[in-house]
Amino acid sequence: MTADIRIAVVTGGGHGIGRAICRRLKHDGVQVVVADLDQGAAKVVARDVGGVAHSVDVGDENALELLVASVERDVGPIDLFVSNAGVGYGDAGDSAASKAGGLNPADDRWQQCWNVNVMAHVFAARALLPRMIARRGGYIVNVASAAGLLSQIGDAAYSATKHAAVAFAESLAITHGEQGIQVSVVCPQAVATRMIGIEDDSESMQGGFGGNDVDGILSADEVADCIVRGIAAGKFLILPHPQVAEYVQRKASDHDRWITGMQRFRRQLMGEEQ
Ligand SMILES: NC(=O)c1ccc[n+]([C@@H]2O[C@H](COP(=O)([O-])OP(=O)(O)OC[C@H]3O[C@@H](n4cnc5c(N)ncnc54)[C@H](O)[C@@H]3O)[C@@H](O)[C@H]2O)c1
Repeated sequence: MTADIRIAVVTGGGHGIGRAICRRLKHDGVQVVVADLDQGAAKVVARDVGGVAHSVDVGDENALELLVASVERDVGPIDLFVSNAGVGYGDAGDSAASKAGGLNPADDRWQQCWNVNVMAHVFAARALLPRMIARRGGYIVNVASAAGLLSQIGDAAYSATKHAAVAFAESLAITHGEQGIQVSVVCPQAVATRMIGIEDDSESMQGGFGGNDVDGILSADEVADCIVRGIAAGKFLILPHPQVAEYVQRKASDHDRWITGMQRFRRQLMGEEQ
């Protein structure tokens, strides 16, 4: 971790990757603010890392502005903001364009994904940039997904919004890099968290489960470690699964061939391959 980072905010810090980032930052001597929709989980992690808990819905612009303002007032200038909270519900009824789906059938999952996976990053940047630019320094890390570079079979809303998250991080870096704003975007494949149905990642890891996904499932701790090393190196694109770089190159070199390959892979996953 760079010595410049003393105070960090982590959204979605109550569980999974966010919780692992909080713990890793604490280990590196950073003062951590744990922000999560799940207030109870945020409090538990904050207690664990000697930090502060904030209950916040990152899809609500006012709530994010309040979070940034109150941390800057009560804790100090935010050196690092990790927009990690994210949601994915899966396609419903085998349709890429379906409205309802997955865990919250009553909600429009496209809107939910848009609010949490994209607009939350915009809202955070909108609140942070004037402050960070005024002091000519600040680090913004946006957790997207490999689905934002490739595509997630079976979740169109997640794929589209994670692509948008990657594009927004690129715009942030291009527009504000020369004003002293450092930006990273994180694009993992499978990670052992509730998002892929693993309730407590740390305990599950003790049983060992790596390898049953295409390129293996990383633990949240491994991803947090990769993120912190990426920050220290000032890397824009952080790929906890290094294979993703090669897949992106293959996609870029022949998009049509990539689509045909993904169609074949989808048939295999659905058990439709002859
Ligand atoms: N687990 C994976 O396989 C995987 C792979 C690639 C990318 N990611 C991304 O990593 C990030 C973290 O996911 P995770 O795997 O740790 O999932 P998780 O479900 O374990 O944790 C997500 C956290 O975000 C919080 N959250 C959800 N909606 C929120 C909101 N509106 N406001 C504030 N907090 C909210 C949840 O309460 C939870 O604590 C997400 O952006 C996800 O898309 C995960």
